[in-house]
Amino acid sequence: MTLRHLLADDDLTAAEQTAILERAAAMKAARTAEQPLAGPQTVAVIFDKPTLRTQLSFATGIAELGGYPMIVDGTLAQIGTRESVADVARVVGRQASMIVWRTFAQERLEQMAEHAGVPVINALTDDYHPCQLLADLLTVREHKGKTAGLTLTYLGDGANNMAHSYLLACAIAGMHVRIGTPADHWPRAAVVARAEALAAEHGGSVQVTDDPIAAVSGADVVATDTWVSMGMEAEADGRHGEGSPFAPFSVTGDLLRHAAADAIVLHCLPAYRGYEIAADVIDGPQSVVWDEAENRLHAQKALMAFLLEHADDR
Ligand code: NVA
Repeated sequence: MTLRHLLADDDLTAAEQTAILERAAAMKAARTAEQPLAGPQTVAVIFDKPTLRTQLSFATGIAELGGYPMIVDGTLAQIGTRESVADVARVVGRQASMIVWRTFAQERLEQMAEHAGVPVINALTDDYHPCQLLADLLTVREHKGKTAGLTLTYLGDGANNMAHSYLLACAIAGMHVRIGTPADHWPRAAVVARAEALAAEHGGSVQVTDDPIAAVSGADVVATDTWVSMGMEAEADGRHGEGSPFAPFSVTGDLLRHAAADAIVLHCLPAYRGYEIAADVIDGPQSVVWDEAENRLHAQKALMAFLLEHADDR
């Protein structure tokens, strides 16, 4: 077997994605039944950006798998500044069984994976947030009984990590994925092309539009995310202020009425009520965001168990 990582959503095949989601559902029903980290083995969980859900769900999940979560503050470690990513990878990989890293550039994560000798998990980069997508797909399965064939619409910043991950992960899941975003915030062309190829393979489709009503029309799942991602704080005024290009994509009750009557609403959190989502939507009956937040735990546990089984190259 070869060493595996989750650096982007398309590191998993459709069959692997399904197997992880099914295992996550089983783990949710029996929280400590599987203990592949018993020993305890250490998993290093490193943060170069703020966190709440990710730290909580990885620490809880690693403990429930029988392991020890070593939380590393990236502002102290100064990876890439104090020493190279490669040297950090070599050191951490000698002690930890797995590395979970939230950082900025995707290339940093790729360097970590190249040199660590243990599985590396993307806990959010500027480009992708694949752990969130596993949680989102688990939530869709719980509420809709399936993923394939459903339409998921993401509204907001089409160029951010969540938009890119929705494109790839939903295409792999055989969904019809639509991105509604201002023309200046289109997803990266290479990611759209990759998603189109995956959608063609798995029976789904991809659509990117700057028309919010066309994007949301008839959707089974409506998802959004902050307009100001971590690291973009300098742009906050233009993105949140008067005349924001994202304002027409705000998930309000009026816009949601164009979706299917039984549509569910996702938000990876943290949420900014009155901006990307209205308070009466996120706090209303169609919102499943608290299930979604809990499902980070179960999805990531199943992911870690899967990667550990493929990690015997060390
Ligand atoms: N796009 C957001 C996701 C937060 C979980 C960010 O990168 O800040």
